[in-house]
Amino acid sequence: MSKNKTEKVTITPAKGRPMLHWVGKRPLTNLIAFPPQHIETFDPVNSGQIYNNRLIHGDNKEVLATLLANGYRGKINLIYIDPPFDSGADYVRKVSLRGITGEAKIEGENYTFGEQIQYTDIWANDNYLQFMYERLLLLKELLASNGLLFLHCDTAKNYHLRCLLDEVFGANNFANEIIWKYTKFAGKNSGFPSNHDTLLVYSKSNEYVFHKTRIPVNTPRKQTGRVWDKELKKAVQKKDEQGNLVYYDQTDKEVDDTWTDIQIVNPVAYERQEFPTQKPEGLLERVILSSTNPENIVLDCFIGSGTTAAVAQKLGRRWIGCDINKGAIQTTSKRLQRIILDQIDTIQKKQPELFSTNDCETELLGPFNDIDPKVGALSFSVYRVNDYDLQIQHNEAVNLACEHIGIERKKTDTFFDGTLGKNLVKIIPFNHPLSPVDLEEIKKELEARPDEDRAISVVCLGMELAAKAWIEEWNRLRKGQSAVNKFEVIELRSDNKYGGFLKHEPAKAKVKFSRIKDIVKIEIEDFISPTIITRLQQQAGLLQPKIDDWRSMVDCVMIDTNYGGKVFNISVSDVPEKKNDLVNGKYELQDVKKDSNVAVKLIDMLGEEVLISKQI
Ligand SMILES: C[S@@+](CC[C@H](N)C(=O)[O-])C[C@H]1O[C@@H](n2cnc3c(N)ncnc32)[C@H](O)[C@@H]1O
Repeated sequence: MSKNKTEKVTITPAKGRPMLHWVGKRPLTNLIAFPPQHIETFDPVNSGQIYNNRLIHGDNKEVLATLLANGYRGKINLIYIDPPFDSGADYVRKVSLRGITGEAKIEGENYTFGEQIQYTDIWANDNYLQFMYERLLLLKELLASNGLLFLHCDTAKNYHLRCLLDEVFGANNFANEIIWKYTKFAGKNSGFPSNHDTLLVYSKSNEYVFHKTRIPVNTPRKQTGRVWDKELKKAVQKKDEQGNLVYYDQTDKEVDDTWTDIQIVNPVAYERQEFPTQKPEGLLERVILSSTNPENIVLDCFIGSGTTAAVAQKLGRRWIGCDINKGAIQTTSKRLQRIILDQIDTIQKKQPELFSTNDCETELLGPFNDIDPKVGALSFSVYRVNDYDLQIQHNEAVNLACEHIGIERKKTDTFFDGTLGKNLVKIIPFNHPLSPVDLEEIKKELEARPDEDRAISVVCLGMELAAKAWIEEWNRLRKGQSAVNKFEVIELRSDNKYGGFLKHEPAKAKVKFSRIKDIVKIEIEDFISPTIITRLQQQAGLLQPKIDDWRSMVDCVMIDTNYGGKVFNISVSDVPEKKNDLVNGKYELQDVKKDSNVAVKLIDMLGEEVLISKQI
């Protein structure tokens, strides 16, 4: 991941037959790969081998292109993806203040304060197919010739996705359809309750890595006469529905393509990350153990709460995870930090000598929870491909903007976002100012809709001067009675009528640094997030939690004792395990060289980051 130039990557065409068609289907033959920016490292034992595991923030289309341009073509042993399901629902990630219970709804909003929209899963059918088609084409290029791809889906799209997979991988490379049957507590209210997902499995050749799996089964024992004591010891006792004791024989069986022994993540499970659609670790354990060998590379480019990476890490596999949502990246990073620290703790207890040698990377091969991780695997790095910093607020900002302005959303239109009075509305993503490129796209769309005569309201945060000139010229040509499709711009940052509400006042922290010889002390004295406070104030009249302690707004704290200004190396991470635990706020760092640049990163409960550093 060291290349710092953009590069063109080529993609092999799909195999072809059978073939699904949709409006706007286009092949993906090549793509520009952007250079990755290395932003964070977690390497608590200083292995220096930070490149084994990678967590990448960005749109997976671009991230996969970047991986292709950086030596990963044909190198991924297992791909598991759990993409949005086209379920027509907004997924919400629940976040709350630390140490404070009780949630209240904000008036006029559909979500409680503590909920942030993680991603929007509303697609027009054709867009969804094109979206998945492009990702599958890229993933196939990355998959090793003896690797497997598992695509997790449900009844909403499994038949479409199977056709897409046949087209991209070839129908002869279909390996399995797995039915994962679980028990959900609420199902749909008509017809049979839906209680299963499907995993579609494809390979690139007939020869792929696969290990058969056996699981224990209990079969009821036929009670013929007396049961001998000796025999009883091998049997399991259980009560039947009538309350009678029944003896079972414990045997085992080979796992087939119907998995009924793995349950969904329960509300109090240790692995729970408060992430909607989080998959159970047991499911990923079966996938990974059956189709990889130790140290193989596992890729999940819809990482969500990080389940795939967490299990790969626990099983001694290398992993690459990616997500477009910053909240998902932060959740995954915290989850993996905890797992790695636990692993180090276990190794230190079992084999302390491994950490006292100088070349521990090659020495550490001893048994550990039935796996052999190398020290190099006890670390990971976080990258960004393109700048999606604003993404965490994007979906939310669009919703707020629509409500604020009074836009009526139209989720069936694949291009325009809704209507405002008589006008059609196009919302420009808030991560860049409105530019002529955006306007050209609208123009192209209008050319394809010759009967459309409504004026267009373009909503953006701000605009480039060139865009202003473009619109003046466009509107000049549309003077008079027959004028159609005139453009009007609502610039949310400065608009007289609508402006102001999206002004973002960044969170701030007050941190005290002091030094006595080689020891540096850090004390966080205060932290304030105007966004969190404003959200709480909007709850006026409803149960309003009071913030007495700044720490309830802070999710976690990380410290880099020698920050160079670019990559944040996490030397200390304070990530409270339970929701009601608070960060410590006071830290003592040993052996810090004089004049080091010590940096403290605070992440608040809405995912906003504050970085404070001092040369000391
Ligand atoms: C169903 S969730 C995955 C849940 C995950 N399996 C788990 O156990 O937590 C899908 C994830 O895909 C991410 N996503 C959606 N579109 C994406 C894109 N274009 N690039 C990268 N990630 C994307 C969403 O942000 C979301 O976190």
